[in-house]
Amino acid sequence: MSAHIGVTGLAVMGANLARNLARNGFTVALHNRSVEKTDVLLEKHGHDGDFVRTETLQELVDSLEKPRRVLIMVKAGKPVDSVIEQLEPLLEPGDIIIDAGNSHYEDTRRREAALAAKDLHFVGIGVSGGEEGALNGPSIMPGGSKESYDALGPLLEKIAAQVDGKPCCAWIGTDGAGHFVKMVHNGIEYADMQVIGEAFDLLRSGAGIEPAEQSKIFAEWNQGDLASFLIEISAEVLGHVDSKTGKPFVDVLVDAAGQKGTGRWTVISALELGSPTSGIAESVFARALSSQAEQRKLAQELLAGEEIDVEVPATFVEDVRQALYASKLVSYAQGLDMLTSAAKEYGWDLKLDEIASLWRGGCIIRAELLKEITKAYAAEEKPANLLFAPAFTKAIAEVLPAWRRVVATAVQLGIPVPVFSSSLAYYDGLRRKRLPAAVIQGQRDLFGAHTYGRVDAEGTFHTLWGEDKSEIAAVDTH
Ligand code: 6PG
Repeated sequence: MSAHIGVTGLAVMGANLARNLARNGFTVALHNRSVEKTDVLLEKHGHDGDFVRTETLQELVDSLEKPRRVLIMVKAGKPVDSVIEQLEPLLEPGDIIIDAGNSHYEDTRRREAALAAKDLHFVGIGVSGGEEGALNGPSIMPGGSKESYDALGPLLEKIAAQVDGKPCCAWIGTDGAGHFVKMVHNGIEYADMQVIGEAFDLLRSGAGIEPAEQSKIFAEWNQGDLASFLIEISAEVLGHVDSKTGKPFVDVLVDAAGQKGTGRWTVISALELGSPTSGIAESVFARALSSQAEQRKLAQELLAGEEIDVEVPATFVEDVRQALYASKLVSYAQGLDMLTSAAKEYGWDLKLDEIASLWRGGCIIRAELLKEITKAYAAEEKPANLLFAPAFTKAIAEVLPAWRRVVATAVQLGIPVPVFSSSLAYYDGLRRKRLPAAVIQGQRDLFGAHTYGRVDAEGTFHTLWGEDKSEIAAVDTH
């Protein structure tokens, strides 16, 4: 029997993707470095569909129809290179190697170029939705050549989550585009999680609302325009009671957030692209700060708080909901704007409506909001920034007073809201007629002759600060 696709690397994610493929009618050849994992999968889930058991990569390759499709699901980094190295001599021109892990897009670009030179296709696909999504329908972001998508896309679209009859999978763009979009998805995921955390802190520390009650509030919010997977699971986490102590579960957790690195990658890339993803950056820094246990302990003894005694408004819960909505929207706006910058830099034709649409199901940031975002970018006239889409311009105008109230109250109460407040600063930064960047330009010209532009003339200028302070035309030195 020749298999439609091979999967190597049968830890949970790989095994679940293999099972998903088999459940959808594809014959899947299985391979793992240690054959025990293959046998466990076959023993427990062999009834999911048609599997071919193989013990070596050669056997795996020999069992596949052509062009061969080999999906690698191993740890990002060196292990991926190592599997590619072993596979490559076994394959023929036109065959496709697929990396479904959370690889860095620059690695994917490098691998794609190296394999293209040998007439092999390399497809980096972003897969979101965790273990459950991999089994029952993830959101899939494939990069690589269009030709490889023609051979691979139908399989991926079949196993992806489906929303309104549309698969949450579409060809993203060449080389590392799929992994790039997945990385930005994770950046948004970080910000989305942080704003929920900030809302929790505001409701608890600002309004004294206990986790069990908050669970109900979050569940209610999940019925409105905040409806999303992350709000839904937050309601579940907040409602959970620790069986050992009877305390709210959230109170027995160490408040230091971990990270595997994709949020950090997003910010590094944003800095390189000059893309102002301040909310995403703040969410990464918030995790880093939470993990500085030693300094946090000392700060509690050494640093003054001096909270200002403010009346928390009666509308506080609704205010927080509105501020959460606005901040969440800004996180999406920043992530999507970063995609626009990356498309220019890397020559990708990223279709933001398709990307927003395939995030509607299966992935961690799936949200009701994405329906409207998809619509905004599918319109004839694409907004230069998500916030300029008429529906969102209006929505933000409506919640702006509450957003300002919440940030002001938080500052007075000493409750850190880095993403709520930086998102508001981004919003105000965008819309202000004049920014203090003019002062910075003056400073730069004074100390380093870095030159400046004028509002009333074309060209580049420099003031002779050390002489008579007259202005001369200059060559732009940035
Ligand atoms: C997904 C997630 C997943 C990510 C985890 C952990 O889309 O399914 O983004 O890929 O690895 O959420 O991320 P951190 O450990 O960095 O929080």
